[in-house]
Amino acid sequence: MILVTGGLGYIGSHTVVELLENDFEVLILDDLSNSSLKVFNGIQSIHKGKVSFEQVNLCNKEDLTVVFKKYPEINGVIHFAAFKSVRESVEKPNDYYKNNLLSMLNVLDEIIVKSSYIPFIFSSSCTVYGRANKFPISENEPTKTAESPYGNTKKIGEEILYDVSLTSQNINVISLRYFNPIGAHSSLEIGELPLKKPQNLVPLITQTAIGLNNKLTVYGSDYNTPDGSCVRDYIHVVDLAKAHVIAIKKLLKKEASESFEVYNLGTGNGTSVFDMIKIFESVSSMKLNYEIGLRRDGDVPVSYADPTKAKNQLGWKAQLSLEQALSSAWDWEKKLETYN
Ligand code: WQD
Repeated sequence: MILVTGGLGYIGSHTVVELLENDFEVLILDDLSNSSLKVFNGIQSIHKGKVSFEQVNLCNKEDLTVVFKKYPEINGVIHFAAFKSVRESVEKPNDYYKNNLLSMLNVLDEIIVKSSYIPFIFSSSCTVYGRANKFPISENEPTKTAESPYGNTKKIGEEILYDVSLTSQNINVISLRYFNPIGAHSSLEIGELPLKKPQNLVPLITQTAIGLNNKLTVYGSDYNTPDGSCVRDYIHVVDLAKAHVIAIKKLLKKEASESFEVYNLGTGNGTSVFDMIKIFESVSSMKLNYEIGLRRDGDVPVSYADPTKAKNQLGWKAQLSLEQALSSAWDWEKKLETYN
């Protein structure tokens, strides 16, 4: 049974579907602070596999211990549960450090005391590279002081996991550093469900196109990039989800060469904001209402992955195109209008 914390979140829910597709039994823990039970229904409508759900705040150690006693068959963990808003983390750093780190430490406490081997997949982020010096960004690029408390919780999380994996014989860790996940499952039963106003580019594009957002602001067109707008590595969330299944299978088979490994998960292609707008307009046949505004604090000009290590050592490569991702994001936005 694979424990998926934050399994009703955006990447977590898509990963649960891929786990079920691979005949894993899944237990989802989620506190529903940034998701809803509708996502659980969506997962079950896609796949009839064995999936259980417990509403738990991982920072509540007693509640978590009860869950681990109730499910002794847990033999792997994929840890997504975390607050993830860069801007909110700047406004409430203490909440972010407490929630993102304490929740993970509590899960580790439950695993360390078990005698059985428990592989652990960590949801990390390209944010740990800060403003990288070389492109494409490989795993050898040094991690930098994070641009936000959110990013720092990912960097600190990896450091904790590195230390724990060295001393605890029953834990091996793979940390997956995501670039920019976008899109929705082809069934349109799950997708990015922003319960608050989104900050990420693609949901803001689709909300602008559908009329929920009056105008998109392009945060700066004076960067040292081909068209002046920032460049990112946008990857279909389903490709990202599939990488988690490959990673947990690798650890379950004890094929990892180290007790702690990191992999960048990106397509290896950089796309500018202006190009994202053009591709969206092409796949949606919509004209997007946007203006050019000031740069956003904390934005790095360029970020895109070198996906070679994941290809060579995980046998994973992104398969889906930007067009497919943006088209699914638009279809999902239109579906959300009737998502009751
Ligand atoms: C992408 C580009 C913006 C909104 C964030 C997190 C990162 C990871 C992915 C979790 C940037 C521009 C955006 C808008 C814009 N999340 N933009 N107008 O900042 O690359 O990464 O999400 O792991 O940790 O930091 O993604 O989608 O916010 O921005 O011009 O209204 O779109 O300036 O260049 P980002 P994003």
